[in-house]
Amino acid sequence: MATKKTIAVVGATGAQGGGLVRAILSDPQGGFAVRALTRDVNSDKAKELAKLGAEVVAADVDDLESLKRAFQGAYGAFCVTFFWAHFSPERELANAANMAQAAKHAAIQHVIWSTLEDTRKWVPLSDNRMPTLMGKYKVPHLDAKGEADQVFANLGLPVTFLLTSFYWDNFIYFGMGPKKGPDGKLAITMPMGDKKLSGIAAEDIGRCAYGIFKRGREFIGKTVGIAGEHLTGAQMAASLTKALGQEVRYNDVPPDVYRGFGFPGAEDLGNMFQFKRDFNEYFCGARNLEAARALNPALLTFDAWLAQNKACIPLG
Ligand SMILES: NC(=O)c1ccc[n+]([C@@H]2O[C@H](COP(=O)([O-])OP(=O)(O)OC[C@H]3O[C@@H](n4cnc5c(N)ncnc54)[C@H](OP(=O)(O)O)[C@@H]3O)[C@@H](O)[C@H]2O)c1
Repeated sequence: MATKKTIAVVGATGAQGGGLVRAILSDPQGGFAVRALTRDVNSDKAKELAKLGAEVVAADVDDLESLKRAFQGAYGAFCVTFFWAHFSPERELANAANMAQAAKHAAIQHVIWSTLEDTRKWVPLSDNRMPTLMGKYKVPHLDAKGEADQVFANLGLPVTFLLTSFYWDNFIYFGMGPKKGPDGKLAITMPMGDKKLSGIAAEDIGRCAYGIFKRGREFIGKTVGIAGEHLTGAQMAASLTKALGQEVRYNDVPPDVYRGFGFPGAEDLGNMFQFKRDFNEYFCGARNLEAARALNPALLTFDAWLAQNKACIPLG
């Protein structure tokens, strides 16, 4: 049997990386093996991946040397940062630089960098439609990822820039699920007006990444945008209503109101939604549904995702 190409996966116990690990392991004839990176090889999640057949190794994106060791001998690397673990765009940039340097050191043949737009290219800091945050960002958790694209490019790495989308899983894990308003009715709240939100099942991000690795050099040096569907708030509310068997409304609020909700990251997310609303044609256009489905034939629509996940959505 030919030797399998090993893909080193950052964030392997998480949403994006986990999807890639499972995609590789569920295709034993695909020619790829997986090395799952985790800070704790003894965690339940890490042990679960080992049981499924992954090689599990210790690495921390804050620690360059650990990444160099973990990438050594691998063919590919899937790189992702963890904004919501620390809320620091500077740390995301530093972590991306560590991964890029480790990939260079290990002569990785194909890097996939999970990225998003640097919104400052569309909304310069001088544009007052939304506040500047943390001194030099408009949407900190997007901008630093987009800025880090250059870090990978500058090192001359064979990189594919994977533009991801809003996870529908946010309705389960990120406090964005339907909540009861003062009228006692369930509603999802987003400052998107009547514009469409590009969404995806988090698991499908890793499956699309696997599709990119399987295509060899085709997407090296390219940006690939993925989504499962582009849907308005009203369309998502209608699907939720059908799936949950009780009415869910779409509560459209102005971005300023959303930014003022006060939870950690509310301003960042308010600016993010406003960017996606104000540059809707660009944003959805950069995420081609057919191309995503070609990479990952199992790509879920929102209704299909709901059929699998509706029981996990907390109804506040
Ligand atoms: N939510 C959305 O809609 C959305 C959409 C697009 C992009 N994103 C972006 O996705 C990124 C997060 O990816 P995800 O959702 O896949 O993450 P996740 O599910 O939160 O999982 C992160 C995993 O990464 C590992 N990790 C955390 N800190 C680490 C570190 N310092 N070094 C090495 N591993 C570390 C943890 O594993 P161990 O504990 O095992 O080490 C954890 O299981 C964020 O930057 C976010 O902005 C989110």
